[in-house]
Amino acid sequence: MQVVIIPTAEQVGRVAAAKVAKVVRDKADAVIGVATGSSPLTIYADLARRVDAGELDFSAVRAFALDEYVGLDLAHEQSYHSVIRNEVTERLGLKPALVHVPDGSAADLPRACADYEQLIRDAGGVDIQILGIGANGHIGFNEPTSSFASRTRIKTLAPRTRADNARFFHDDLEQVPTHCLTQGLATILDARRLVLVATGAGKADAVAAMVEGPLSSMCPGTALQLHPDATVIVDEDAASRLILADYYRHTYAHLPAWQRYED
Ligand code: F6R
Repeated sequence: MQVVIIPTAEQVGRVAAAKVAKVVRDKADAVIGVATGSSPLTIYADLARRVDAGELDFSAVRAFALDEYVGLDLAHEQSYHSVIRNEVTERLGLKPALVHVPDGSAADLPRACADYEQLIRDAGGVDIQILGIGANGHIGFNEPTSSFASRTRIKTLAPRTRADNARFFHDDLEQVPTHCLTQGLATILDARRLVLVATGAGKADAVAAMVEGPLSSMCPGTALQLHPDATVIVDEDAASRLILADYYRHTYAHLPAWQRYED
């Protein structure tokens, strides 16, 4: 795992965007995994800047979202269908037909989950997966005690996650869905590269557990320890509980040229 500590949230987005940009530049029809929530917004903003500058073209890129609420109208402004359309598809210029989000309104949810797994396989797998982490250590909506072998499935959102996400629903906990569909931890680990971003002191405990804690389903983010190409990019606040922070800073400051991806 590569751990990169950068001063500001904006810079976190820029460095993560550089990783995604490299994948898309090298492979015009790359498959990217996209997350929702606040964390990746600076990544999408920086990628949009590159698209607007004519440096990047997402028109042949395929995208798979990590998760979706169950029981929320797809047209609801907080459905991940809406969020991905607004933040990713439209801003980066992806073709809507190439953007996939689990179908949380399907009549047969287990079937929708199995179909989603198949769709990812048919696309040849995900080249780079963007991730955030919940304050309780979840990635995707794989809440604590999720199996490392899990695949796309229905999950019950943890009380902490619903409380944290109430900010997207006018601070009204009642409006936050109770269930979701989420890619499983094994689905996420199948991606060829993982890039996880986290900012702010509220993520410091989760980041420390994910990077330096024992592998445990109590912190699903620790699944990244099993991946051969995982990069965790955090600001100083999110890094504040890392025991080996100085080592990560030193390592990043002395990366050999061939390992650099910032541009
Ligand atoms: C979003 C997702 C979640 C979020 C996590 C952090 O698709 O799967 O794991 O990445 O809840 O959310 P924010 O970034 O809003 O703190």
